[in-house]
Amino acid sequence: MLKVENIGKTYKRAGLFSSERQNVLKNVSFECEDGECLGIIGESGSGKSTLGRLILGIEKPDYGLVSFNGMNVQDRKVRLGNISAVFQDYKSSINPFFTVEDAILEPLNINNRSKKENKDKIDNLLNQVGLPSFYRTKYPHELSGGEVQRVCIARAISTEPKCILLDEAISSLDVSVQIQVLDLLKDLKTIYNMSYIFITHDLQAAAYICNRVIIFKDGSIEEIVKIEHLKNVKSFYARKLLQSLITF
Ligand SMILES: Nc1ncnc2c1ncn2[C@@H]1O[C@H](COP(=O)(O)OP(=O)(O)O)[C@@H](O)[C@H]1O
Ligand SMILES: [Mg+2]
Repeated sequence: MLKVENIGKTYKRAGLFSSERQNVLKNVSFECEDGECLGIIGESGSGKSTLGRLILGIEKPDYGLVSFNGMNVQDRKVRLGNISAVFQDYKSSINPFFTVEDAILEPLNINNRSKKENKDKIDNLLNQVGLPSFYRTKYPHELSGGEVQRVCIARAISTEPKCILLDEAISSLDVSVQIQVLDLLKDLKTIYNMSYIFITHDLQAAAYICNRVIIFKDGSIEEIVKIEHLKNVKSFYARKLLQSLITF
């Protein structure tokens, strides 16, 4: 399925005359299996979103390869319809001049279905993310944060992808809404048999939905652990993460 092989990424450091480069990702390798929810946990600035962008093929690694079913994700055709994404900043994820229907249709219009077929699909998609059909004519500013994120999820599943990358997708939502969206994601995963790459700084949310988690620190993998073995993590950083959760 999705395979990350020894990738690395550097960025030029801020400052006009700086020639130094910041090592944001170092020798990162892992695989995400079919139907798996793989968490990537790490603190802010550890390089999670950068890793996400490389997985989505939006940016190029300096070295290494990200492949989907053996093909490089840098090739747009490999990603199209197979890998989609939901980001944290749902407010800017949807064009404010788009209705809910336009937003969901955006990725669907790239395929060969007729417009009528696509429109029919919207009712079903809205239903699947727990929104009533009449929402199709609403604009993002008329919706709550949780509702906009549901629209983003409907859009992400519209092409029936094999894999969705969720980058802090629930982090901006109220805690009670977070759980609703996590439950929704769990249900959809079963229906569509997709895999998720669930990027978060929230260990608790990851433990709720993931099968395995990657503990990520300073641009590299500290440890990969099955969720049922989370209590037995070995690395110092992972233990600290766990402790902070227990005392919280
Ligand atoms: N496009 C960019 N140009 C320069 N530096 C960047 C860029 N994107 C991210 N960085 C830097 O890379 C580091 C990791 O950022 P990021 O991947 O957003 O981490 P996280 O998502 O874990 O918070 C940060 O120090 C950030 O400033
Ligand atoms: Mg981030």
